[in-house]
Amino acid sequence: MFITFEGIEGCGKSTQAKKLKEFLEQKNYSVLLTREPGGSKLGTTLRKILLSMENQDITKETELFLYLADRSQHVHTIIKPALKENKVVISDRYIDSTVVYQGYGRDIDPNVIHLLNELATNKLCPDLTILLDLPVEIGLKRALARNLNNKTAREEGRFEAESLEFHTKIREGYLTWAALNKDRIVVINGENSPEQVFQEILLALKNRLEI
Ligand code: TYD
Repeated sequence: MFITFEGIEGCGKSTQAKKLKEFLEQKNYSVLLTREPGGSKLGTTLRKILLSMENQDITKETELFLYLADRSQHVHTIIKPALKENKVVISDRYIDSTVVYQGYGRDIDPNVIHLLNELATNKLCPDLTILLDLPVEIGLKRALARNLNNKTAREEGRFEAESLEFHTKIREGYLTWAALNKDRIVVINGENSPEQVFQEILLALKNRLEI
């Protein structure tokens, strides 16, 4: 079982992914919680390059290929081996982040990105994707508050530094893409309390996993 979490900055997906891991472990599932970028050994280096404030001049194509390189390595060295061991794999961001940020956000054809994703992952598609949706202003406020208190998050702020307009494009891109992939992507309102959001995630999971 492969589950991914998606959403704009500050939507609460990392908190929910952790909560889900703990819940499933209590139900005796063996769970791997991972993330992109940076889920593999090579990915740790790629993450630093991708999110550093020093790399503001990176071209959109360079950015795209670095995310795909990170993903390919992640799938082949971390995700697939864990799925083979029958683990539930939860990834904080995956293929849809690239379609939305590099596609809808940076104006590269989302269909081209979809094909490149297939190449990078050998067509490994999540069984379920949770999209936590909320207004951009609320997400960014949360992300900025987090960055003030956290040195690593501050240094990784290249995307948080993008304009409100960019993030609005991202939110809308996610909703458009989710509507095109209704069987896989479940949209949940991230404005609700963490407990309420979590209950809705469990509801979405119930059709797919014995919990
Ligand atoms: P991260 O610190 O993990 O942010 P968040 O907590 O919001 O997940 O940073 C990941 C950033 O990288 C985020 O701004 C989205 C961006 N991103 C892409 O642009 N394309 C991608 O394919 C992925 C995986 C992430």
